[in-house]
Amino acid sequence: MDVDVFTLFPEWFGWFAAQRHVANVLAAGSSLSCVDIREHTPLPAGQVDDTPFGGGAGMVLRVDVLDAALRRRYGADPELVRRTRRVIALTPGGRVLDEELVAELAREPELTLLCGRYEGFDERIIEHFVSEQVSIGRYVLSGGELAAMVLCDAVFRKLPGALGDERSAVEESFSAALEGNPEYPHYTRPADFRGWTVPPVLLSGHHANIEHWRRERSRERGRGAGAPGAADAPAAS
Ligand code: 6GU
Repeated sequence: MDVDVFTLFPEWFGWFAAQRHVANVLAAGSSLSCVDIREHTPLPAGQVDDTPFGGGAGMVLRVDVLDAALRRRYGADPELVRRTRRVIALTPGGRVLDEELVAELAREPELTLLCGRYEGFDERIIEHFVSEQVSIGRYVLSGGELAAMVLCDAVFRKLPGALGDERSAVEESFSAALEGNPEYPHYTRPADFRGWTVPPVLLSGHHANIEHWRRERSRERGRGAGAPGAADAPAAS
């Protein structure tokens, strides 16, 4: 997968790209490229944003600046770019990222992520250049960069080479293998710490029983706080 991130803070992504699972995915043939929006501004003072028409606090990312940056990157009218690849604006009010959307994005050959700062994007950017808006939760961050990294982290975990052990991606929280439930609890040595013991089945070496125990714990957690139907679900039998 090839990911382009349009940002005013490209240097933030150097740290991100160096993290083990991201580096693994990049080494396996994916790419994460940053486009510095400021480098492409057609305005003489390097300006990228402006005060909102109608007044109000904050600054708004300019549509002409984003137009120039996208046009340079793709060599085409930015209005056409979103027909050939998903162009995602990271905004607090967008579609909330969940495992389903992550899996969907992981199937794309290319993604474009637009990070806004300040009060956000001129609405014409959203209307004409963007195919969808994505949020990482209902709270406000000071910019889209951290959200873009969260999105890439979650998506890259799905790609070949990300994890040392490919099984960990198959049987993890919310996966089909776990029927969409959270993951079962894990334990490691010591088996007894301050009298806090590990469930004996895990030490039994009996794989079918272990498998059964894990499925049950995962289902139990799926019925827990915040899960759909949690309030009226029968207790685990
Ligand atoms: Cl994607 N951007 C900003 N600025 N704040 C957010 C967000 C995105 N998702 C949650 N809060």
